[in-house]
Amino acid sequence: MEQDYTVTPQEQPHGALIDKAHLTPGQIVEELDKYIIGQKDAKKSVAIALRNRLRRQNVSDELRDEIMPNNIIMIGPTGVGKTEIARRLAKLAKAPFVKVEASKFTEVGYVGRDVESMIRDLVEQSVAMVRSEKSEEVREKAALLVEERLLDILLPPVGMSGNSDLEESVEEEGLEVASKVPEEDEQSLERELNRKSRQKMLERLRSGRMEDRQIEIEISGGDGQGGMMQIFGPLGQMEELGGIMQDLMSGIPKKRKKRRLTIAEARKLLEQEEVQKLIDMDAVVKEALRKVEESGIVFIDEIDKIAAPTTGGGGKGPDVSREGVQRDLLPIVEGSNVSTKYGVVKTDHVLFVASGAFHVAKPSDLIPELQGRFPIRVELKSLTEDDFYKILTQPRNALIKQYRALIMTEGVELEFTDEAIREIARIAAKVNESVENIGARRLHTILTNLLEELMFGIPEQITGKRVKIDDSMVREKLGQVAADRDLSQYIL
Ligand SMILES: Nc1ncnc2c1ncn2[C@@H]1O[C@H](COP(=O)(O)OP(=O)(O)OP(=O)(O)O)[C@@H](O)[C@H]1O
Ligand SMILES: [Mg+2]
Repeated sequence: MEQDYTVTPQEQPHGALIDKAHLTPGQIVEELDKYIIGQKDAKKSVAIALRNRLRRQNVSDELRDEIMPNNIIMIGPTGVGKTEIARRLAKLAKAPFVKVEASKFTEVGYVGRDVESMIRDLVEQSVAMVRSEKSEEVREKAALLVEERLLDILLPPVGMSGNSDLEESVEEEGLEVASKVPEEDEQSLERELNRKSRQKMLERLRSGRMEDRQIEIEISGGDGQGGMMQIFGPLGQMEELGGIMQDLMSGIPKKRKKRRLTIAEARKLLEQEEVQKLIDMDAVVKEALRKVEESGIVFIDEIDKIAAPTTGGGGKGPDVSREGVQRDLLPIVEGSNVSTKYGVVKTDHVLFVASGAFHVAKPSDLIPELQGRFPIRVELKSLTEDDFYKILTQPRNALIKQYRALIMTEGVELEFTDEAIREIARIAAKVNESVENIGARRLHTILTNLLEELMFGIPEQITGKRVKIDDSMVREKLGQVAADRDLSQYIL
C-alpha cells in the first residue's frame, strides 16, 4: 500500500509539462467574466477543475489513477448561471459538450434507458465538431475541384463527351469549342484550343455571370452527407443497432443520380460531395474519440431530482428508480468503457458537472459512492438588483445589446438611459421576490414586455432614427403590472 508520492526529477524534466496553448485558471475566469456576472466561486471551481484535468493527464501513469477527477456539483437557485457557466467553459475549452437532465432517466418509459447514451451523444457532438473543423480546412480545395468538375461538364476535355446542348449555347456566346476530329496533329491543336476555352470559361464561371445557367450533374443519392439512414428507438440498444445498420448500409455503393440544376445549386451540392471526399472520416472519428476522452464535458442538470430526500413520505417506487439512475451513473462517472457506434470510449477523464437547486434533497441524499465522485461543491448565489443591472449591460451578449442590434437592422437606434436600466433591474428584482425567483430569466420576460410595442411598431408606426427609453417610460409600461402580484404572475 505504501507509495512514495514525491515527484522525481525524471517526472519533471524541463519544468512545466502543460503547453502554453491552454488557458490558466486565471485566464479561464477572465474569459467567463466576459459573459457571466458574479458567481466568483463557481467560476473559480470550474477553472480549477478544467486545469486539474490537464494536470492529471500529465502525471505519470501509476499516479494518475490515484488522483480523483474534479467533478463538480453546482448548487443554486434557478436562472443564476449554472448552465451558462458550464456551456461557456466548454466553448472556451473547445471541448465536446452535452447537457442532460438527470430526471429524464427516471421518466416512465425511460426506466432502464441506459445512461450511457449521454456518452454516445457526446461522441456524436464531437464527431460533428471535428468534421466541421476539417470541412473548413478543405473548403478552398473543394471549391477548386468543383470548378474543375463544372468545367468538365461545360467543356469536356478532349476525348470526353459532354452536354452537347451546352456546347451549343457556349458557341452562341462566341466561345470556340474544339471539334473532335481524330487527326494526329490536329489533336494537339485541339487540346490547345480546349485549354484556352476552359480558361475563358473559368473566368466566366468566376465572374458569377453563369450562376443561373442550367446544367446536368451526377451526384450520389441521399442528402449529401453520404446518405446516412437514421434509426430511432427508445432504447440504447436500438441506437446501437442503428449504428450497425448504418455501417452495413455504407458498404453498399450509393446509386448516382442525374439532376438538372442551376450552376449555383450544383456548386453547393458538388462542394458538399468534394468536401466529403477530401475529409478522411477515419481520422475524424479518431480525433473525435480522443477529444471526448481528453476534454469532453458532460453537464448533468437537475441532479437533485434523482436524489431521494431522507424525509421520505412518498411511495417507494420512484425512489428505487432514482437510486437506480444513480447506480447507473456511477460507472460512467468513475470511468469505464462505453461502446458507441464509432468505437469504445474511456470516460476516465471526462469532466462531469452536475447541477441542481437542491431545495428539497441535499447533496448528502445522493448515494455515498456518487457523492464521492463529485468532490467539489460550489454554491451559486441568488442574483441581486445590482447584478441585474450589470447583466443587462455588461456581458458580451447582454440583453440590451441584443435588442439594440435587432432594432439597428431596421435603421433605428435604440437607446436606454442609465436610470431606465436601473429601473428595469429594480422591477426584475421585485417581481422575483414577490412572485417567483427565476433569476436572470426574469429580465427576458420584462424586456419582451417593455419592448413589445416597439418591436411591433417598427418600421410602420414608429418611424424616425432613434428611440430613447427612459425610466418614466419603464415605470409607465411596467410599474402597474409589477405592483400587482396577480397581474405579474401572468404577464412578467
Ligand atoms: N450571472 C449571470 N450573468 C449573466 N447572465 C446570466 C447570469 N445568470 C443567468 N444568466 C442568464 O440567464 C439565463 C438562464 O441562466 P442559466 O441557464 O445559466 O440558469 P441555471 O442557473 O442553469 O438555471 P436552472 O437551474 O433553471 O437550470 C441565461 O440566458 C443566462 O445568460
Ligand atoms: Mg440550467
